[in-house]
Amino acid sequence: MKPIVFALPGNEAFLTALGASIAFEPGVLETRRFPDGEAYVRIDTPVEGRPVAVLCTLAHPDPVFLTLWYAARTLRELGAGRVGLIAPYLAYMRQDRSFQPGEAVSSRHFAALLSSAFDWLVTADPHLHRYRALAELYPIAAFAVECAPALSAWLRANVHHPIVIGPDAESEQWVVAVARKAGAPYLLLEKSRRGDRDVVIRLPDLDRARGHTPVLVDDIVSSGRTMAEAVRELVAAGMASPVCIGVHALLDDEAHAALLHAGAARVVTTNTITHRTNAIDVSPRFAASLAACFAATLAGAERRSRGTP
Ligand code: R5P
Repeated sequence: MKPIVFALPGNEAFLTALGASIAFEPGVLETRRFPDGEAYVRIDTPVEGRPVAVLCTLAHPDPVFLTLWYAARTLRELGAGRVGLIAPYLAYMRQDRSFQPGEAVSSRHFAALLSSAFDWLVTADPHLHRYRALAELYPIAAFAVECAPALSAWLRANVHHPIVIGPDAESEQWVVAVARKAGAPYLLLEKSRRGDRDVVIRLPDLDRARGHTPVLVDDIVSSGRTMAEAVRELVAAGMASPVCIGVHALLDDEAHAALLHAGAARVVTTNTITHRTNAIDVSPRFAASLAACFAATLAGAERRSRGTP
């Protein structure tokens, strides 16, 4: 029995890419807004007893969240087997503690909401910093797909003599994995954040980096300030124009332009969020986790049909 994947609007490109690595039936659903702005959802593919997932990247999650939640709840009401979420980008991971008294730890509350509607979730490179694993905040089965092999492959094919550079300590996990798989050296910069769009970057000794092509790697490029400040500092220190690689392209056109203006040679991202900088297809990285989730649903359904627990 083929699983069904419903893509919310804006996720069609990733759905098509996913279809090259895993067999599923694309589900049909209708979503729209009532005149007062409320969300409308209708599921148009029979789902009873079938393994089902909803594909929705969670960049800019607030406007899409209720549509997603209604879709998941309705799929359950219509008798779908377990309902999964494929969220190539998982939102609300950065607010992982109360930095100021009274602040909502939105990562935890968002996880509770998603977990009330879905049975499992697969995402790519979630921003795990103070949490070491998704299991620390998601009570449902939650799988993190690693994009580093795809980034390293792109690096090997496109950049001569690279050195991988992380703009801050938090990027170390991605930088080390990408550099190791690409057979390149790496170094980390130091970042202090003074506000949402105000960061200061300090460089270490760059002797080791001379003669290499600098390649900045980070999980998220949002306002672009982290990357832009890192680019500015590296260029001011006499390095060549850096290539900037971000896993998740949260940046808008203004941030993209500012990054190029700061001196970036090129900005490259994966397709976890559709963006003009997408150059690295990470959809094949999802195939193994998705196959396991769908197989678990089918195995559960078979056990139930045989009356065994
Ligand atoms: C935070 O530690 C993340 O890894 C990124 O460095 C950060 O989210 C980038 O944000 P922005 O582009 O707004 O500086």
